[in-house]
Amino acid sequence: MAKLDDCPLKHTASNLCFADGNPGARLMIIGEAPGRDEDRMGVPFVGADGQLLDKMIASIGLDRASVYLTNLLPWRPPGNRSPTDEETAMLLPWLFRHVQLAKPEFVLLLGGAAAKLVLGSHDGIMKLRGRWRDVDFGDGVPRPVLASLHPAYLLRSPAQKRLAFEDLLLLAKRLASVAIK
Ligand code: URA
Repeated sequence: MAKLDDCPLKHTASNLCFADGNPGARLMIIGEAPGRDEDRMGVPFVGADGQLLDKMIASIGLDRASVYLTNLLPWRPPGNRSPTDEETAMLLPWLFRHVQLAKPEFVLLLGGAAAKLVLGSHDGIMKLRGRWRDVDFGDGVPRPVLASLHPAYLLRSPAQKRLAFEDLLLLAKRLASVAIK
């Protein structure tokens, strides 16, 4: 990805923000895009959103060593603007390939942008969240995918943490039900 010179976002970002956590984890978490802190460090979810995400996964007994984290976009759009349709169309196949290589058992999508693009839906996140769907990321393997609310949204609307926690409990239940003994 570091050589993907055709993507305009690469040229305005400070760093490629590829992934964090454990690439062999059973759960892959996909956020939206690096923010200012992530762009500076080259690591996804290191800012305030990431701190809340750490607390969210800790509430179901997970940490960065037991999940694999990435974003829809590996570069911060300038000024945190929304990516263009061309940019997301260019980068989505790279995300799908990333999932194929990491081979997670489960995928958690955070926020409307990731949910809509990965699930190929025009519905909003409130409609898409909280329900397991199988997605084939291009390797013929149907992977259970759950969409939930983005921590940035939860920082702005803390009353919605209840819904996010319901989703986390669904995730915990699924992880426990097929735990490798
Ligand atoms: N928000 C995201 O979606 N991803 C990050 O890495 C940071 C904030």
